[in-house]
Amino acid sequence: MLKFGYISELDVSNGLVRVFFEDDGITSNPLPVSVQASKTDKYSFPFVINEHVWCLMDENCEFGVVGGAIYSVKDKPSSHVGEQLINVDIGATKLQLKIDRQAGNLELKLEGDATIKAQGNIEITAIGNTKVKGENVLVEAVTEAKVKAPTVKVEAATITEVTTTLLKITAPTTTMSGILNVTGVVAAGGFAGFSGVGAGGVMTVQNGMKVTGTAEIDDVKAGDYTSKTGGVMTASQGLSTPQDVKAGGKSLTLHTHTDSQGGATTPPI
Ligand SMILES: [Fe+2]
Repeated sequence: MLKFGYISELDVSNGLVRVFFEDDGITSNPLPVSVQASKTDKYSFPFVINEHVWCLMDENCEFGVVGGAIYSVKDKPSSHVGEQLINVDIGATKLQLKIDRQAGNLELKLEGDATIKAQGNIEITAIGNTKVKGENVLVEAVTEAKVKAPTVKVEAATITEVTTTLLKITAPTTTMSGILNVTGVVAAGGFAGFSGVGAGGVMTVQNGMKVTGTAEIDDVKAGDYTSKTGGVMTASQGLSTPQDVKAGGKSLTLHTHTDSQGGATTPPI
């Protein structure tokens, strides 16, 4: 016979419950609960104490089965259900599943954590936009992580850090704005040119510098102008210095000659 009652005791590990039948004022023996499947596929029943259920019982109300839960005056369907909306609330609102069968939308809200584990592949494909948002986001791959798009933007309010053993940038043109600090060695196949105003630091080149074009220098300072290769220094527009110049040990401003009488002349006037 068909009976209605409220669950008064749960035995989850054995799939049994006791039901209090209000009409008779009696509590049933442990009753099995009808579930979707119980062998290879197993469903745990979701009932709680005071769940309103319907039962099929024998004529003595000793043996029977709990067929399922039913809504009652006391426990009504969720307030946000609709004819086109399939709604599942677990733990009040701790987990909410909404399916809008008219629009074809699926919404899952969790107050706790969500975990998806697959031995195979996971693929998420959307014709529209896809967003992954969180306090910290980690994408970790065993072999390769690839971001592929016609345009890729990396935006960071403070620091963008790339840590690797080898960083390769392959592009016809690479543009960097701001200051570029390199603490290691810079090796370049060539420089097209330098422009702009620097920070006023000193550029040090340990193994010499070769300029095939024109070098315009505000000042040149050197401890020694000795040419190791013995080349000739040529100045097509003349040389001028307020200091003395010596050639072969002879001072340009202080040297004297011997006159026709064997005496010394004055230095150049
Ligand atoms: Fe002279």
